[in-house]
This record gives sequence, structure tokens and C-alpha cells, in this order.
Amino acid sequence: MIDEGIKVDLILTDPPYDMPSTKAGGKSELAKSIQGAFDELKNANLTNGITYEFLDLMVQLQDNINIYIWCNLKQIKFYLDYFIDKHKCKWDEIIWYKTNAMPCFHNKYLTDKEYCLYFRKGGYCNPVNYETAKTVYSLPINILDKKKYGHPTIKPLPIIKNLIINSTHEGDLILDPFAGSGTTLVASKQLGRNYIGFEIDEKYVDICRKRINEEVSI
Ligand SMILES: C[S@@+](CC[C@H](N)C(=O)[O-])C[C@H]1O[C@@H](n2cnc3c(N)ncnc32)[C@H](O)[C@@H]1O
Repeated sequence: MIDEGIKVDLILTDPPYDMPSTKAGGKSELAKSIQGAFDELKNANLTNGITYEFLDLMVQLQDNINIYIWCNLKQIKFYLDYFIDKHKCKWDEIIWYKTNAMPCFHNKYLTDKEYCLYFRKGGYCNPVNYETAKTVYSLPINILDKKKYGHPTIKPLPIIKNLIINSTHEGDLILDPFAGSGTTLVASKQLGRNYIGFEIDEKYVDICRKRINEEVSI
């Protein structure tokens, strides 16, 4: 239940991905590394996806739908069904092409892309220049940032900042209901936007607070 007085201008979020259980066979270093990466996400409750009820709550928080949601390939249909079929939104897709993805391609393509879907209905999207208007970002997974902020799925701050520049004005209110290490919140602060973040894990709440207070730039 949402208080009808509370409205946000933009939701930019990175909910848990919907991931099938992984049992990487074999004893090779690669198999161990794949299994380790999956177990790390599972232990952090990052493999169960989210529900349509949760999306309903997000929509209720906006006068105009203006939402960026990170997801994996499997979840794209789930989100399109909800935002396009049900809410008749316009949409776009931002890609983070990971230049150093894990070399895992047995009977499949590399998992070298992350998807950020953008849905709007009356929402604001006005890229300020050619650079912020692009939809594909080629960036490595930053292992140092993952270690520094202790979060397994940290997103690149430069991408998040561009999305915020394109879809909000200074002073607007941005919500990230799955804040993780606080990348959306730090970007919002750096760009003079107001922000609200929710995070279920105390460990990550502490990291968010530190990053916001220190205004650490990554
Ligand atoms: C994919 S991560 C977000 C990472 C973030 N984009 C970053 O750059 O650090 C999702 C986060 O949502 C949190 N989470 C999962 N379920 C939640 C819930 N019901 N309420 C609030 N946070 C939740 C997890 O603890 C995790 O930190």
C-alpha cells in the first residue's frame, strides 16, 4: 500500500535477476569460477527475480511512468509483457557490453551483455548530447569496484549518471528500491538530484551510507 502523496520522478533500479540454478560440472578452474559466481549471487538472494505486484507498486509511485530496470535476457519478456502490453509504454534498451565477460561458451554464447530496459509513459527522456544519447556502453566489469564496495553486481557509475541526466532535471526525486552498494544514489547526489534508496541487507546499507557520505567517485 502506497501513500498517495508520495511520487517520484524517476525509478532507476537493479532488482535481483531471475536465474536458474547452476551446477557447473567438472573440476576445472573455469567450472569452479562459474559455480562460485552463481553461489555468490544465490547467497546474496540475487537469483529470484521480482513480481508483478512489486511493479504495480513502482507504477503507483509515479505520475508518469519513467523507469529504468536492469535485467537479464530471461527477464526481458516478463518486463515487456508488463510495461508494453499492460501499460502501453514506449521503451528502449540500454546495453552494457562487458568487454571482459567470463569465457564460458560451452553450448551457448557468451554472457557478455547486461540489459537496462527503459519504460516511459509521459516520462522525460531528453539526452543532452550525442554521448549521453547512446544505447550501448562497452565497459569491463570493474573487479576493483566489486572488491572495494563488496557488492557482486555493482553497476558502472558513468552509465547510471548518463541515464539520470537524460531522464531527470536537477532537484527531481529518484528512487532505487534495490540500492545495493548505492550506485544510483551516489550518481543522483553528484548530479544534484534528490534520492531515496531501499536495501534489505544491512551490510549493503552501510556501504551505501559510506559511499554517499564520502561521495566516492568510481
Ligand atoms: C542487483 S543488486 C543492486 C546493485 C546496485 N545496482 C549497485 O550498483 O550496487 C540488488 C540489491 O537488492 C537487494 N534486495 C533484494 N531484495 C530486496 C528487497 N525485498 N528490498 C530491498 N532490497 C532488496 C539486494 O540485497 C541487493 O543488494
